Amino acid sequence: MEKIISGGTIITAEETYRADILIKDEKITQIFSSLENYEGYEVIDATGKLILPGGVDVHTHFDLPMFGTVSSDDHYTGHKAAAFGGTTTVIDFIPQDFSPLVKNVDVWHQKVTSKAAIDFGFHMNITRYDKNLKNEIPLLLNEGITSLKVFTAYNNRLRLNDGEIFQVMRIAAEHGFLTMMHAENGDIIDLLVEEALAMGKSTPEWHAYTRPSWGAVEAVARGAAFSAQTGAPLYIVHMNAAGEVDQLKYAREQGLPVMGETCPQYLFFTVEELKRDDGSKWICSPPMRTKYDNLRLWKGIQDQTIQVLATDHCPFFYDGSNPIIYEGNPVAIPGKELGKDDFTKIPNGLPGVGDRMVIMWTEAVTKRKMTANLFVKLTATNPAKIFGLYPQKGTILPGSDADLVIWDPEQEIKYGVEFSQQRTDYNLYEGWHLTGYPEKVFLRGKMIVNQQEWLGEAGEGNFIHRDLCKTIL
Ligand code: URP
Ligand code: ZN
Ligand code: ZN
Repeated sequence: MEKIISGGTIITAEETYRADILIKDEKITQIFSSLENYEGYEVIDATGKLILPGGVDVHTHFDLPMFGTVSSDDHYTGHKAAAFGGTTTVIDFIPQDFSPLVKNVDVWHQKVTSKAAIDFGFHMNITRYDKNLKNEIPLLLNEGITSLKVFTAYNNRLRLNDGEIFQVMRIAAEHGFLTMMHAENGDIIDLLVEEALAMGKSTPEWHAYTRPSWGAVEAVARGAAFSAQTGAPLYIVHMNAAGEVDQLKYAREQGLPVMGETCPQYLFFTVEELKRDDGSKWICSPPMRTKYDNLRLWKGIQDQTIQVLATDHCPFFYDGSNPIIYEGNPVAIPGKELGKDDFTKIPNGLPGVGDRMVIMWTEAVTKRKMTANLFVKLTATNPAKIFGLYPQKGTILPGSDADLVIWDPEQEIKYGVEFSQQRTDYNLYEGWHLTGYPEKVFLRGKMIVNQQEWLGEAGEGNFIHRDLCKTIL
């Protein structure tokens, strides 16, 4: 039966208006003020509520082997957590090994297909350069993969040297790929880590002290310089430092196609969190910085120097020797305890895919008076536009997928691990009071979340063959 979501107020990146939405065959087919007769339709009452496009999180790491363990959400549990938080599309990163890139893509499809519970796409990590990439990278376009991630840190693991990044960006420019950059300085990090360990400094805050923000700042400048010289657009992931925002602004003032993303954790937390007894919960790379950095990043999203709010969701257990109950079964996955005596062994990464929209609604819209339209732009529309998903995803238009969130702006929640659905034993926002929360979530017209009830299923998420990425400045 055709569905109508009736009585709600639609929020897009551009507009706020009262209208009903007709859904047929997984798509939004009409948007209208009202009908004379609602008989023959399944009517979902959204009176007094807001209707948002499903969130698009373009930075997730599900089921990712790392640091001798694996990120604790897989492509089912992570998708489910995303959905509860109002996100209906994610883009995950495919690790590169020694096989041809398309083989790496196959491996990731095999991991995901039977588990996916929301729609998803892939980026390709380029972490090993060889001359075959000139032929292999263009083949990714046939696979619906139009973005590549390079690293300027994690020496001897993920990092390419500057010349190799330059070559990747030349290939990217030639074929229309977007290059995403993890911006830090791997050489200096390695030197500082060695010195810290030699001085017996092994506690979590040393993770931050050995990854100074200037390394991130100059890596953004370096990336912008490569963009200028290769003509390739660039997207800086997980921006965390004030100076990075300044570099992004400067690059754009020079007319360069350089875009940026930040993640909620960099807006709220500082190196002080790493000094807590449970400081390893906040370990991720790049690390938390200072209050000044938090404020500059907030300004960067408010004035749209930064275009996207993503998560870098890469969760680990705080105590992976102690099982949690997940869907009725005990689950324990080695996590942060692996580095209890040595910060370099703490798995890098945090949960966030379910937290992003709900935390940012309260903190940005309710408390800091960001417009709901800008919230939608940063969390859904811009990521969909940049990563070749728009207008199928990221907006509310006739012809778009009916990925919709009925958002209750009045709902009060005391948030935390008991509430969020991420498969880990902690939440960074434990005890935070939220005002505004998703009430119902639809994936291509099917209700997959109703309050705290899960109606989705593994295998229902579709792979999205993405169009070419787009530069929006
Ligand atoms: O600590 C993090 N961010 N882990 C995930 C990998 C990355 O660099 O994005
Ligand atoms: Zn990264
Ligand atoms: Zn990441």
